[in-house]
Amino acid sequence: MTPVTFCGIELAHPIINASGTFDAIAARRAFGDALLTGFPFAAFVSKTVTLEPREGNPPPRLWEVPAGLMNSIGLPNKGLHGYLAHDLPELARLPVPLIVNVMGFSRDEVAALVSAFAARDEVAALELNVSCPNVETGMVMGADPAEVAQLLGVVRPLTDKPLIVKLTPNASDVPLVALAAEAAGADAVSLVNTLRGMALDPRTGEPWLGGITGGVSGPAVRAIALAQVHSVCAAIRIPVVAMGGVTCGRDARELMRAGATLVAVGTESFRDPSAGARIAAEVATATGCVSYPV
Ligand SMILES: Cc1cc2nc3c(=O)[nH]c(=O)nc-3n(C[C@H](O)[C@H](O)[C@H](O)COP(=O)(O)O)c2cc1C
Repeated sequence: MTPVTFCGIELAHPIINASGTFDAIAARRAFGDALLTGFPFAAFVSKTVTLEPREGNPPPRLWEVPAGLMNSIGLPNKGLHGYLAHDLPELARLPVPLIVNVMGFSRDEVAALVSAFAARDEVAALELNVSCPNVETGMVMGADPAEVAQLLGVVRPLTDKPLIVKLTPNASDVPLVALAAEAAGADAVSLVNTLRGMALDPRTGEPWLGGITGGVSGPAVRAIALAQVHSVCAAIRIPVVAMGGVTCGRDARELMRAGATLVAVGTESFRDPSAGARIAAEVATATGCVSYPV
């Protein structure tokens, strides 16, 4: 394994999890201490935490697409206080640095989340999920460079911890948003989040997902992720965490060749919970669905 330094954080290798796709607390219950000794990722990224608790979207929440998955989970979580009381103590016991992913429906909400986690030594870095509408402006924060710059203008002074802006692929010019994040003080960006999709119930013709639309992930989005990572890496100098459809070492190496410092594994962990460890080993040994050296 090749150690990596990411925003000043020492990591054993470049493979981490994508937010919301690996429940380390449930995995600890299922696998016991074996999870800690053979933890599959070099850092752990929490699922999105919001200020208030959320139930998530009504079911059905999943739909299988060719070579991928569409979800409209709707970010269910215990809210900031529930997370601090129940999840943070358990996640702090993981043998790797903890990155907390947060999302707010206004700049003030994001600021409250960032301030709360800034004070916690257990947290190594924060990932800002900006794939949600700002209720004050009606704009999806991450779709607009000016929104992202204003958000960072508010939250950047609140912490010295690394701030990673998780970009939405559902924007007209993703590199422009990445440039705005860099200029406003982000330490890194991550991409891609899921791509908006929709499925109809074949029996009724009505939307299948309770949330009407959902986010597509998995190998179906890999080529789009590679193109977006490539263009973002060409535009900015801060490190990039790349994700989207990674299933093996070759997929990860392609994203690193495009310029990514770290690669996150998402949907593949549902199929193979030890995918992170396997892909890290495949990256180190240049193997893993390899048909040509990358
Ligand atoms: C079931 C599911 C839940 C997710 N939850 C979150 C989340 O809570 N926060 C977030 O920023 N991204 C979330 N994502 C997006 C992933 O972190 C990742 O950006 C996306 O799935 C692309 O990677 P993949 O193709 O390897 O899955 C979720 C994705 C899936 C499939």
